Amino acid sequence: MPETSATPYELLGGEAAVRQLSERFYDAMDRDEPALARLHPLDEHGRVARESRDRFALFLIGWLGGPQDYIAAHGHPRLRMRHARVPVDISMRDAWMRAMRTAMDEVGVPGELRAFLEVRFAEVADFMRNRPG
Ligand code: HEM
Repeated sequence: MPETSATPYELLGGEAAVRQLSERFYDAMDRDEPALARLHPLDEHGRVARESRDRFALFLIGWLGGPQDYIAAHGHPRLRMRHARVPVDISMRDAWMRAMRTAMDEVGVPGELRAFLEVRFAEVADFMRNRPG
């Protein structure tokens, strides 16, 4: 964490900035990581569905220290359980991280916060693995 009491949510710029990060993330996934995108519900244009994008954005807002609306709407994230039916191996973990890095590049997350978020995202993405290899 940077040397301040501000949350990552505040440092990023609040709700609009976090929603922007989430949109860029799924746009990168749609464009660059078709195998990963196809694991998600897709809309009529073959893009990750609006509902999935919005649910992840709401989760991110809370996870980064903003309002806990995801938990109010959907309960505790229990991420590993919610991903149990999704085959996550090393290649999907790495594809997820590439899309998130691209999104962070595109929205321009500043240095120290970027380094902090890379580590946290990498930890949670690795934690989601539920298939060997
Ligand atoms: C590492 C590879 C990952 C894969 C392949 C993956 C894939 C998926 C899929 C297929 C869904 C269900 C469809 C949807 O609701 O969009 C989903 C839901 C979700 N994922 Fe992931 N995911 C990964 C990592 C992560 C990570 C690292 C996070 C958190 C930082 C995350 C957070 C979520 C959330 C919050 C949901 C919605 C859960 C719900 O409310 O039902 N995922 N993911």
